[in-house]
Amino acid sequence: MKLIKSLLAASAISVLMVSGSFANDATLVKEGEKIFMTKKLGNCIACHAINGKVLDGPGSMGPKLQYLSSWPKEALYEKVYDPYTTNPISAMPAFGKNGWLSDHEINAVVAFLQTIN
Ligand code: HEC
Repeated sequence: MKLIKSLLAASAISVLMVSGSFANDATLVKEGEKIFMTKKLGNCIACHAINGKVLDGPGSMGPKLQYLSSWPKEALYEKVYDPYTTNPISAMPAFGKNGWLSDHEINAVVAFLQTIN
């Protein structure tokens, strides 16, 4: 009986841990989406249309963002941190290098980008 109780407790804890990390991810994605859409933050929506999402900016200067869920996380981070490392003539500003977005904010944006299929 004692064993069953501790097994139950252990599985309850792992369920909590799993749902906890899921909640954190969902929170991070939400935060990233807000940064993406907000003029004073990322304002990515000013240049990028997204597959299946309604635009509130012109969204024509940068490419339409799609299939980003298949990009490695590091590549997405690098693109937002400093697009010139992969494209020296990029018209996209270096949000990380310029100090416009913090490390945490870029990670949030990356979490959101990873939801774009
Ligand atoms: C001033 C316009 C502009 C803004 C603002 C902008 N981008 Fe870009 N972005 C571009 C252009 C132009 C490219 C294509 C050139 C390149 O790959 O560097 C690009 C490319 C990208 C790519 C690569 C897409 C692909 O399919 O190759 C990603 C990912 C991206 N941007 C994400 C973002 C995010 C996230 C933000 C907001 C933090 C943002 N961009 C803000 C203009 C912009």
